Amino acid sequence: MTDIDTLRDTLLARIQTLETPHDILKASEFKALYSVIPTLDPAERGAYGKRINQLKTELEAAASARQEALEDSSVMPLDITAPWQLNSTAPLLLPTEQGTQHPLTRELEEVIDIFTRMGFDAHESRQIDDDWNMFGALNFPEGHPARDGYDTFRTEEGYIPPAHTSTMQNRVLKAGKAKLESGGQIASISYGRVFRNEDVDATHEHTFYQCEGVFVSDDATLGQMLGTLRAFFEEYYGQKLKIKTQPGYFPFVEPGLEFAIEKPAALGGKPGDWLEMLGCGMIHPNVLRAADIDPDKYRGFAWGGGVERLVMLKYGIEDLRHFESGKLTFLRKFL
Ligand code: DAH
Repeated sequence: MTDIDTLRDTLLARIQTLETPHDILKASEFKALYSVIPTLDPAERGAYGKRINQLKTELEAAASARQEALEDSSVMPLDITAPWQLNSTAPLLLPTEQGTQHPLTRELEEVIDIFTRMGFDAHESRQIDDDWNMFGALNFPEGHPARDGYDTFRTEEGYIPPAHTSTMQNRVLKAGKAKLESGGQIASISYGRVFRNEDVDATHEHTFYQCEGVFVSDDATLGQMLGTLRAFFEEYYGQKLKIKTQPGYFPFVEPGLEFAIEKPAALGGKPGDWLEMLGCGMIHPNVLRAADIDPDKYRGFAWGGGVERLVMLKYGIEDLRHFESGKLTFLRKFL
């Protein structure tokens, strides 16, 4: 038995030197223990055999532990999305321990925060919808050419991944009707992903984010709308801004406007660099009617625009495609 104890220490020590530690069970000294059994007095064989088995279990456990340690030290943390940099030993990882927010999520939270502070409630928009919410409720007559401008995807069943967040308007209006009739106002933003069947380039994506606002009261005005939008943009960019509008056609507003800001000098703009940020206008009476709101009693304004565009200007991002690319070199700039 003492033989086995001495051998045990030797073999355990040897495991730590082996690259394939389970080979220890093939060691000739260990195997030799079995050949001793037939030479023993039959009364001793049972106890001896048991002792060999104990040792075997112990060696297997030690070999497995060593195997695991070897694997841990030889494998780098693996991020299959990381750019493959041949000469770099340090992979360009995001901080995986605590996780990170996508820049769009972070900026969207900022947008929501600003509007919430102005008294708007906020809802995420749907990612699958129908013809009624995409077009019908928004005063696009059946077969109207303006429908074609939205490059809309459709499922085989006729459902629509929304091409704009205006699909939320009818729901927001219907949900707010009671509030309106008890003397309150509807003030709501809807934000989320939208989808268009577009040719993708630096300024066009098939998947992007929009934020939509709706305000209805018994005396809403275009002036209030411009004030609201100015307040939002000045808060988001942290500075005074010049704003400008020009007529724009959207079937769901009348009048409809395109709203632009002058690119601030601090963000590389020159006087006269106007950037169109969104579409807006006074909600068309037919849109109010579609939600069973009487356009003779209530008036509203609405706006909607892309979120990426806001963020691109703020951070000088030159290519819209970065947002959906998952590129770590891009994402790491926002840590
Ligand atoms: N939905 C329009 C688009 O995606 C933008 C828009 C224009 C939204 C005018 C509005 C609006 O609410 O009043 O092109």
